[in-house]
Amino acid sequence: MLFSARLFCGQLSPDDVGRSVLLAGWVDAFRDHGGLMFVHLRDRSGIVQIVFSPEIAPAEVCQRAAALHAEYCIAVRGEVRKRLAGTENPNIETGSIEVLVTELTVLAESDALPFAVSDKAMVAGAPSTSADNVAEDLRLQYRYLDLRRPSIRDNLILRHRIFQCVREFLDSRGFLEIETPVLTVSTPEGARDYLVPSRVHPRSFYALPQSPQIFKQLLMVGGMERYFQLARCFRDEDLRPNRQPEFTQLDIEASFIDEEFFYELIEELAVKMFAIGGIALRRPFPRMTYAEAIETTGTDRPDLRFGLRLVDVTDVFSQTNYSIFRQILNRGGCIKGINIQGQSGKLSKNVLQNEYAREIVPSFGAKGMTWMRAVDGSLESNIAQFFSRRELDSLRKRFDVADGDVLIMIADPSRAVVTSALGPLRLHLANRLGLVPADSYCPLWVTDFPLFEATEEGGVTSSHHPFTAPNRTDFDPNNREELLKLRSRAYDLVVNGEELGGGSIRINDRQLQRKIFAALGLTEEETRQKFGFFLRAFDFGAPPHGGLALGMDRAVSMILQTPSIREVIAFPKNRSAACPLTGAPSAVSREQLAEVGLLNLGGPDALPGTALKENRLDHLSWVSRIGVAEEERAMIEDVLAQADELALLASQKAGAEQPIYSVAPVVNRTRPGTECQRSERARTGELLAGAPAVKGNYFQVGSILE
Ligand code: AMO
Repeated sequence: MLFSARLFCGQLSPDDVGRSVLLAGWVDAFRDHGGLMFVHLRDRSGIVQIVFSPEIAPAEVCQRAAALHAEYCIAVRGEVRKRLAGTENPNIETGSIEVLVTELTVLAESDALPFAVSDKAMVAGAPSTSADNVAEDLRLQYRYLDLRRPSIRDNLILRHRIFQCVREFLDSRGFLEIETPVLTVSTPEGARDYLVPSRVHPRSFYALPQSPQIFKQLLMVGGMERYFQLARCFRDEDLRPNRQPEFTQLDIEASFIDEEFFYELIEELAVKMFAIGGIALRRPFPRMTYAEAIETTGTDRPDLRFGLRLVDVTDVFSQTNYSIFRQILNRGGCIKGINIQGQSGKLSKNVLQNEYAREIVPSFGAKGMTWMRAVDGSLESNIAQFFSRRELDSLRKRFDVADGDVLIMIADPSRAVVTSALGPLRLHLANRLGLVPADSYCPLWVTDFPLFEATEEGGVTSSHHPFTAPNRTDFDPNNREELLKLRSRAYDLVVNGEELGGGSIRINDRQLQRKIFAALGLTEEETRQKFGFFLRAFDFGAPPHGGLALGMDRAVSMILQTPSIREVIAFPKNRSAACPLTGAPSAVSREQLAEVGLLNLGGPDALPGTALKENRLDHLSWVSRIGVAEEERAMIEDVLAQADELALLASQKAGAEQPIYSVAPVVNRTRPGTECQRSERARTGELLAGAPAVKGNYFQVGSILE
């Protein structure tokens, strides 16, 4: 078959009526109308209805058509005609036409499907057969079928468009796309590294980059001036719904620039990217300092789609008689609150007291909360009587209270506890009360982050990475108090409460960079060992530079409004960082381990668990998680040998009896008063039939809930 004449299903239009066409694709759905066969033929461009009529197609073609099944890959030749009035299907792009088939070639048959691929109704008005409710791991196990579903296909097409838009825009601004190594050394982004053992250098490892940070700065030292890359990054960190162990960043770096350069560049780019999803972002994006973000929204990722700003009322209660507040204020604490305007109808006393005060607020880390409802010109609450008229009047003014409003206040000796509880409470209230407008996008820049964070060991650690420039350079690296007051020249792009990107102006002064490492508690020797090659580059005229990285999976997912970033990645890992399709991560053979020097056969350095055949004691020690000291080995080997003898004796005596694995009787335990019920579906195995990725006798369950 010559495919050169092939046309695309989704591109046929009423203009093609009367034309003879060659189409190829997959059987999306079919309907047999007593000899007249209707098939939805799908290719990447869309779907068109093809018709096998005994009056037009040879009998042998109709016969083969009757044997078609979903997802058979076929090619057909036929003539485009207008559909009869009343049979048009508005669910598909080509719903006003169809193709009368004269020739059929089955290119490849398909097995029965694990889930429906088609998500278009065959008949106008009929419900679609969408696979949206199929367990995600099953979809990922058969991702190649999932990708045939138009919704996923469209996500990948739009992802491509957004990537193209990025490339064209940055090219037009003089940026060069340059690749940096994937087999490299550790990059200081704060997560754990994925390590790759080297065969050529036994017992040495490459690290996969957490970001191209070091290389992009070296590119600036190398005079490239403006760099970008759609870079794959790898981070072994705790999983969250918007995180993947490998993800794609739009990584950017430029020389001889300042913060304003990036605000302008990225705002322009974001406007273009979001426009691809039909979303108009307004420029300029507002800016908020880290301190203001924390004080008014309780987070450094403020969601500005709704109000509910945090208001400080500590001073209102400076003379209070209410003992709980007084004690907290005596300990240097603070009181902040939120006015939930006009919502008293939805926040009854019962909800405020029993749900929010008892359950929800404590789950956010605060000990409790105080609530008040504005009714008939006064503030009522279960504790209103403890407050003076002056305090209540000041509260009304400070929160700008009107009847129907509800105030929630949290007091705590620690300001951080107050803000970090009010932050999630603000989001909880907004979601519960439906205050988050749909289809609204509020980007903003968060600036002036603290340069360092305190560590539990009494030192400091970089809030971002150690190459971020501080707001001043005259600090004492040994003065922890002073270090914790320093601000950085870093900036984050936040949209709707999600961090889409972040970056900073870097340090290009070698003395200052050394001072930062000293502040981090690294000795000259440690610094040289870890970053020597990098610091050396700064001895050769490093230009002032800065950069930023945008999380592309997050950005695309937000633009396309998908429920998770996995929907915009062709082959994502699941919620437990595994790939149900390939089974990765998987065990490797002992030979492979030996090849990379990770298997010192029988020696004391053998990897735990890999010495199964060589040394039973090591294996037992590993599986039982009980360390065995060198001097204990001989004694335990002895016990094991005796156990072997006993087992031998026992098996000779017992004949065909099977050994038991546990001396305690195996019984089911249920809560007293509950009857033990065995599910019939468990007995037949049906209960676990849809279980995700299976490994040996185990199946995997997600480790986090979304
Ligand atoms: P940062 O660590 O803030 O900065 O990362 C930049 C952006 O990458 C996205 N991101 C992720 N997306 C999906 N899964 C993950 N596990 C994940 N981790 C991060 C986020 C984040 O805002 N080198 C610096 C940038 C710089 O300073 O130029 C860096 O990587 O959207």
